Amino acid sequence: MLCLITPLQAQTYDYDPDNGEEINELCSGCHGEFGQGGKDGEYPRIASQPLEFIANQLRLFRDRKRKNFAMVEYIDDRQLPESDIYDISRYLSEITLKTQLAPVDENAPDFDAYARLLESKMTMQIPKAEGDIERGEKIYNKECDSCHGKEGWGNHKNAGPMLAGQYTNYLWRQVKQLRTKQRIHDEDSPNDELLNEFSDQDLTDIFAYLSVMDD
Ligand code: HEC
Ligand code: HEC
Repeated sequence: MLCLITPLQAQTYDYDPDNGEEINELCSGCHGEFGQGGKDGEYPRIASQPLEFIANQLRLFRDRKRKNFAMVEYIDDRQLPESDIYDISRYLSEITLKTQLAPVDENAPDFDAYARLLESKMTMQIPKAEGDIERGEKIYNKECDSCHGKEGWGNHKNAGPMLAGQYTNYLWRQVKQLRTKQRIHDEDSPNDELLNEFSDQDLTDIFAYLSVMDD
């Protein structure tokens, strides 16, 4: 796993948030203005992810090690030098999306519809997924939390993505790719077929637990 993260660690870039914001204008067409994702998981949530995870995925897309037809031309256009990868990854990782909309009275005289719209765009709520939450919690805490974080928000050290707050549909699509080795789950032991050791029922329960973690 370290081989993938080394370039970021070995070299430090001067962070240029304006460049990050500018690059995000390209990304937002699909992933939303705040990286919140959309279309029920056709576009994943990319904000609040560990910087290292975002950077790794961009390199994998760029080097054609992870397929992504939708993104190919954007990555080619700019050719994404390492400093750009750093700026956009850091920019996105520092966006914090709320998971709950504060209750308000829409009939109150000071209700600001525009502010409310903005707030709802920055709120990422995952509809509760079907499954046995308690069973999912047990499996998650035993088998997944070391790499995906206790609270499901990812792990900087091993560049593990957050799973809580990600669209359930999207997670299932990735499970297929990970099980068929179109994606490598753990760079440290690329031959581990981690998710093949779990049944669809196990994953259904894990995803049910993840979908309510932030409630
Ligand atoms: C034309 C639409 C489009 C644009 C523009 C786009 N993406 Fe994506 N992106 C996608 C799709 C679709 C996926 C999911 C691919 C899959 O299902 O495996 C994705 C996946 C990702 C992922 C992987 C997330 C995960 O959890 O696995 C990252 C990171 C990402 N995009 C970052 C970016 C960044 C940064 C930009 C701007 C430079 C960008 N994308 C621009 C469509 C787009
Ligand atoms: C040894 C560490 C490790 C363990 C244990 C682990 N994962 Fe992962 N997982 C990762 C890493 C690292 C990635 C990102 C892979 C990449 O860079 O493409 C990942 C990616 C994923 C993804 C794709 C998410 C996305 O946004 O692209 C899913 C889904 C997933 N893991 C589910 C699980 C589940 C469920 C468990 C427990 C049964 C689990 N993982 C256990 C390290 C781990």
